[in-house]
Amino acid sequence: MTAQLIDGKAISKRLRVGFRTRVEKLIEQGVSPGLAVIIVGDNSASRVYVGNKIKACEECGVVSFHHAFPAETSEADILADIRNLNSDHKVHGILVQLPLPSHIDVRRILEAISVDKDVDGFHLYNVGGLVVGNTIFPPCTPYGVQLLLETTGIDVAGQNVVVVGASNIVGKPMALMLLQKEATVTVCHAKTRNLAQHTIIADILIVAAGKPGLIVPQMVKEGAIVIDVGINRLPDGRIVGDVDFEGVKEKASWITPVPGGVGPMTVTMLIENTLRSAERALHLRKENDYQDWEAPQLKTE
Ligand code: GUN
Repeated sequence: MTAQLIDGKAISKRLRVGFRTRVEKLIEQGVSPGLAVIIVGDNSASRVYVGNKIKACEECGVVSFHHAFPAETSEADILADIRNLNSDHKVHGILVQLPLPSHIDVRRILEAISVDKDVDGFHLYNVGGLVVGNTIFPPCTPYGVQLLLETTGIDVAGQNVVVVGASNIVGKPMALMLLQKEATVTVCHAKTRNLAQHTIIADILIVAAGKPGLIVPQMVKEGAIVIDVGINRLPDGRIVGDVDFEGVKEKASWITPVPGGVGPMTVTMLIENTLRSAERALHLRKENDYQDWEAPQLKTE
């Protein structure tokens, strides 16, 4: 079997066209959606990711506020910036790019972001919402993966899903979101013994380990759907995922490429969450509370 490609770049493009219409509707009603992105230090990968986020804002008509701080900035200064953004009506989403320098307490920073502007979905309130199945802002990467899975037409209910990687950003929220959709979920991580014994039973295999070449064809069931969240730069400069793409595509039914799979979707879902936040703020202005506000159902077609 040769897998069909899940083209995250093309799906993102289609979604972003729809976003422009939503932005126009918001502007007609007096709300210009805005996203603030905070970056501390000069991690080169983070700079690229932040650049992509700002570019996506421009593409969709979202106003971006880029706050770049030197690595030695104190935690108190970052907290003060977040407090200002929390009360700024032009800002509907606040994102602090991770990782942060080691003298800054990540938890304290993430908890300072207003839950109503937490477009990354990393605040404990939104994380708790995921556990009970009604978070306001689903975290961007797992949310993007969920949409990519939907485009295959496969219902995840009852499927054996194996998630490789248990990070707070991808693996854990991914597992919770799929559990909510009634999949049978296994989470593997760095201490898992005999990884292949788990991956081989996966109808859907989602890999977010940050290890190039971790998943080889012998570890994949014939006909599985394989989602590669990894983004690794090799010494020769090539960008690859965690999956041996050339080998595994001969066994899988569907597979995401790297680059051009999950990566563009993560940025697209950040814009989706920012629009969601602006639409929710507009609802609040009209109705005086958040009651009856429902998140729009996204269509990838
Ligand atoms: N660093 C790596 N991925 C992410 C992400 O999704 N959000 C933020 N804020 N930082 C990251």
